[in-house]
Amino acid sequence: MSYTTALHGGATDDILKSLHKQFTIDDQTLFKITTTFLSEISEGLSNYGRAMAMIPTFVKGVPDGSETGTFLALDLGGTNLRVCEVTLQGDQTFSLRQQKYKVSETLKTGEVTTLFDYLADSVDAFLTESSTPSKEPSSLIGSDPYAAVNQDTPYLPLALTFSFPVEQSALDSGVLLTWTKGFSAKNAVGKDVVKLLQDAFDRKHIHVKCVALVNDTVGALLSRAYTSGGCILGAIFGTGTNGAYVEEVSKITKLGDSAAAAAGGEMIVNTEWGAFNNSRSALPTTPYDNKVDRESINPRFQAFEKFISGMYLGEIARNVILSLIDAAPKPILFGGRSSDQLNKQWGLDTALLSEIEEAWEGLGQFSLAPGSVEVTEVEKLRRIQGVLAKRLELSPPDISLADADIVRQACTLIASRAARLSATAVAAILVHTGRARLWDQGEQSSAGLKDEGKRIGVGVDGSLVEFYPNFQTKLRASLRMLIGPEVESRVDIGMAKDGSGVGAALCALVAQRQSQAART
Ligand code: GLC
Repeated sequence: MSYTTALHGGATDDILKSLHKQFTIDDQTLFKITTTFLSEISEGLSNYGRAMAMIPTFVKGVPDGSETGTFLALDLGGTNLRVCEVTLQGDQTFSLRQQKYKVSETLKTGEVTTLFDYLADSVDAFLTESSTPSKEPSSLIGSDPYAAVNQDTPYLPLALTFSFPVEQSALDSGVLLTWTKGFSAKNAVGKDVVKLLQDAFDRKHIHVKCVALVNDTVGALLSRAYTSGGCILGAIFGTGTNGAYVEEVSKITKLGDSAAAAAGGEMIVNTEWGAFNNSRSALPTTPYDNKVDRESINPRFQAFEKFISGMYLGEIARNVILSLIDAAPKPILFGGRSSDQLNKQWGLDTALLSEIEEAWEGLGQFSLAPGSVEVTEVEKLRRIQGVLAKRLELSPPDISLADADIVRQACTLIASRAARLSATAVAAILVHTGRARLWDQGEQSSAGLKDEGKRIGVGVDGSLVEFYPNFQTKLRASLRMLIGPEVESRVDIGMAKDGSGVGAALCALVAQRQSQAART
């Protein structure tokens, strides 16, 4: 019996077992979720107005790493607002200069024009505050093979990475379908976001032209393709979650008789999989999830995202912890004591879950120097006690070793469920595009699959996949179970670092090519 098992007993054991039961999704259920995913993908490709919007992005084809040019990019949708200047070197590498700006709650929830004025001001500040010569328009276009197009105009071309569901009608226009991730700025839904931004630049006489609009998932796909020579899926596991993949235009039947449909070929589709299964018919939901959903600004929307992404995992954990503090007839945690931090909605950051996992696994700041003696379970739990005291502002004597262990188990359950569910999204795209088959019928052959025997590139970005210990390992294990080891071993998952900036730059380049082609 391990030390941690010996810590608990009676009621605590029962509650822990019940938590395990509620948060563990068995293999059969994962298959069912993936099958539901496949049907929601098809629904979204043939109809507008579905929750999983399957948005045609008008980005056709992916880069191969030979692209060159310097572009401005503005990125809104994660934790920060970023303005960057990206230089594509044409040899699969790039350089990037960036500045981050805070987006206050007031801006997120106020009038949309105030938010977009702030975006325009941030670009202005980036251009004027920078003392490097590259702030000059001429140097921004200096290395651009399409400089002739730029020089016709006194404006700097900028691509907007706007990571919310936007129904695009062209590379440089699209209306906001709904806000996600805690944003709710007024008078924005139904408006063209490129126009909102351009109006803000124009109001302020800032000589910047927004030439392309891109989702962060599309950015991840393009940038991974640029740096690794090929990619079919870009996925974000961060504040929110979503994926974009390369689709055959003929399969996007909702395009009807449009020019885009007639042109054929391939197009990147932004799935908006965060809204997968809003009905929750397939997603096993706990009371803790229901509470998070009910108290969010968009109840019953973004169901999948609320099980997976960084914005919500801390809040789920907070709900679990509070229920254990309040347990009757006897508190299970912290002798029944809570703290202001714990009592506050969103008071618990997903970073805390990462830190607890790191403390337990001996990773990150808790890594051992090579050759050190193995740390005992008691020592690991002491580290967790320290993390909890600091982050939850609890008084150390209130946190027993058993408490530390219960919180650790709860956090691991929540994060493991997120990683397993993430695998269903990746598996569904691979199966939908003909690159994999589901393995629920037993062993399958890979004969006849698309890209048989070849590497399958997947670009990922976001705080969970980058920082959460073992997130990718757990995702891969579930993916292997869902699609079998042969295909899984060919799935090359790599970080699309700075995807939002580099992907936006690549989109700006496509926009310039198209505008040059239109002129000639
Ligand atoms: C949310 C947004 C989506 C974005 C994702 C990751 O799901 O709706 O557009 O890609 O977050 O940032």
